[in-house]
Amino acid sequence: MTYLLGIDVGTTSTRALLIDEDGAVVASHATEYDLSTPRPGWAEQDPDDWWNATCVSVPAAIEAAEIDPEDIVGVGLSGQMHGSVFLDSHDDIIRPAILWCDQRTARQCRTITQTVGEEDVIAETLNPVLTGFTAPKIIWLRDEEPEHYARVQKVLLPKDYVRLRLTGEYATEVSDASGTSLFNVPKRRWSEVMLDRLELPREWMPRVYESPEVTGTISAQAAELTGLAAGTPVVGGGGDQAAGAVGNGIVRGGVVSVSTGTSGVVFAHLDEPKVDEQLRTHTFCHAVPGTWHVMGVMLSAGGSLRWLRDTLCPGEIDVARNMGVDAYELMAAEAAQAPVGSEGLIFLPYLSGERTPYPNPNARGVFFGLSLRHERPHMIRAVLEGVAFGLRDSFEILESMSVSIDEVRASGGGARSELWRQIQTDVTGHPHSTINVDEGPAYGVALLAAVAAGIYDGVPEACERTIDLVDTPGVDESAHGLYARYHELYQNLYARLKPEFDTTAALVESTDG
Ligand code: XUL
Repeated sequence: MTYLLGIDVGTTSTRALLIDEDGAVVASHATEYDLSTPRPGWAEQDPDDWWNATCVSVPAAIEAAEIDPEDIVGVGLSGQMHGSVFLDSHDDIIRPAILWCDQRTARQCRTITQTVGEEDVIAETLNPVLTGFTAPKIIWLRDEEPEHYARVQKVLLPKDYVRLRLTGEYATEVSDASGTSLFNVPKRRWSEVMLDRLELPREWMPRVYESPEVTGTISAQAAELTGLAAGTPVVGGGGDQAAGAVGNGIVRGGVVSVSTGTSGVVFAHLDEPKVDEQLRTHTFCHAVPGTWHVMGVMLSAGGSLRWLRDTLCPGEIDVARNMGVDAYELMAAEAAQAPVGSEGLIFLPYLSGERTPYPNPNARGVFFGLSLRHERPHMIRAVLEGVAFGLRDSFEILESMSVSIDEVRASGGGARSELWRQIQTDVTGHPHSTINVDEGPAYGVALLAAVAAGIYDGVPEACERTIDLVDTPGVDESAHGLYARYHELYQNLYARLKPEFDTTAALVESTDG
């Protein structure tokens, strides 16, 4: 038997997952680390934390699997997208990486758009320049930390820093490169136009591959630190969304996934690139060679629920610990006591600003409609419903782009809650099915490694042979009707509050520090 390893460099942990050549999960191990927020809206991590976590998770997974590392025939890498790792001429890390959820670069986004010209930005990258993307972080470094900028020799994405430590190669692949604002997404190569007009050296960017291509092999030094065999091939892999989509079988038209981790993403495969006229979704290269994808990204989906747990549910956390269960299970049981619509309580889930449907770093979370009647179950349910309303926004955008939605597959932490999945089903009007493997991006990139190893004849075949539907809930039509009315109210609230979000942001900035 041979095995494949997927490594996912996430925002909260790095996870190593071993599968066998039939796609069965053999072992996994996750190692957590912290995220630092030195200022409001900032989010940073030390890239060495990812590497150290890799050096714990990989040997732990190999040990748990009780296999010979020589039988691992390929490694795939996936990771949080858009983060910037700045390296100097010795490959030393210049400053902490600035992450996907960091909102510091609003000014740089405007500068880039003006310098390049909006039309050319869209023609080259198929997306607007957003605060979380990579290019504005590079320009921020140039503006704000020139002493650091002067030392930059390479800019890598999070998983590609781990790749460098594993293989010694500066490499990336098309799906993650798509989120840099420096990549020509239609042509699947670095954009000369973006790089030249922003005066960024082409040599700073790593070599780009298609996702199932081999980008290098495990070095002798990495073999010693990880327990992998030197010479094991490492494939391109994918940004966490494209990789997760492969892990969910989103590799043909009509099949759409909803994944609710910290972020909430509605993801569809495209045979040809298609762009939302209002630029509310992202159009990136997919991890299936020669194809693209479109996705709506909410920044705080599971993140909203985690915030609620940590701020308002200390009791649930304590009880869950004593009972040996998950606090989210207790919260879901409470939420189930509140009726559909939470008796008029509406939550806007914009705790870290938003991307889809409103690319607005100033947007903020809101509980609207509180009354003396509302208790904690209403508040929990309102959060579950608010996130589902946000997902529905993405569905509506996909429909407006004529992207077909025949089947919806749920994944991520949110898919594990039956109540939340039912709420999402009733809000969007599409059954959100579960699948047999919910191992996320690490599974997807392990499949990509299997394709490179010749085990499967292409990515669609790998998915076809390993992924099946398990449970498909029915849509409760009366709840769906009521939710449609609440959703309209939810959308109106944002429209009315938008100027107030901007005023609040200016006020906070003027009083900051
Ligand atoms: C996608 C995105 C997030 C991050 C973190 O555009 O920003 O999915 O990759 O998970």
